[in-house]
Amino acid sequence: MQALDPFDIPGTVTAITGMGGLPAILVRTEWSLAAIYPHGAHVTRFQKTGEPPLLFMSAASEFSSDKPIRGGVPVIFPWFGPREGLPAHGFARVTTWELLEAAALPDGSVKLRLRLPATGSYEAHYIVTVGSSLTLELAVTNTGDADFTFENCLHTYFQVGDASHIGISGLLGTRYRDVLTGADLTESEDPIRIAAEVDRTYQDTTATVEIHDPGLRRTIRVRKSGSLSTVVWNPWIAKSIRMPDFGDDEYPHMVCVESGNIATNAVTLNPGQAASLIVELDSLAPVGPGLGLR
Ligand code: BG6
Repeated sequence: MQALDPFDIPGTVTAITGMGGLPAILVRTEWSLAAIYPHGAHVTRFQKTGEPPLLFMSAASEFSSDKPIRGGVPVIFPWFGPREGLPAHGFARVTTWELLEAAALPDGSVKLRLRLPATGSYEAHYIVTVGSSLTLELAVTNTGDADFTFENCLHTYFQVGDASHIGISGLLGTRYRDVLTGADLTESEDPIRIAAEVDRTYQDTTATVEIHDPGLRRTIRVRKSGSLSTVVWNPWIAKSIRMPDFGDDEYPHMVCVESGNIATNAVTLNPGQAASLIVELDSLAPVGPGLGLR
């Protein structure tokens, strides 16, 4: 297993033994605290000073080298969803990535770079920049001599006060597949409200999405580039009970707004070509009492 201590930067980057004995990196900046596990290149924590964590983590998550972590930001690659005989949502989230670099940047933020162990036909790097916001970049290069088609998704779990009181804006008029019914529909709600299980894959959208959360008095903003798909997911009651690594009562405290390229938006790279999926996560001025949703 890779030793992470050599990447320590006193007061800023610290190698720790994380949950389940897995190695992890703790990052402190003047604005925020973050934790990253090389297992899955998984960001489990991003918290701005004086705010609740931006990312939801399930208390029931397993931390084991052969299981995905439940919460934070699972890296979904090179396929999204189930695949016969293979790990659901790709193998990237159950693979130990190699930490290549930890650097304190002149503006006070910290950059970590991880690499998926070599595959021969492509190279995947994950660049995590922790500052007053969290920026995640999944950069894939086709190093082989044939076209390479893949799906990707940064499957971000956000912490919210009460999912049934949030509003999700930015997707009005966007085509989506309702995964629960198989129907292809157009989003007619703005903001989107959650009052039951939601599993929707929005296609052909580059829009910034905002989660307005009166409970935690903040608006979460998800900005992205190199992404045409957005997934909105909350398992609600029955699915929460079915998931062994998710608490039965945790669904009101999370929502996934995921950015990537899936299904008809899968990416094809010619030999030598590269593509980056970049997501910037931030929280904005609190929603004041009585202001409701914007
Ligand atoms: C979402 C999918 O992205 O991930 C859901 O749209 C799925 O259908 C969810 O249930 C969680 O997947 P997993 O493999 O982490 O349990």
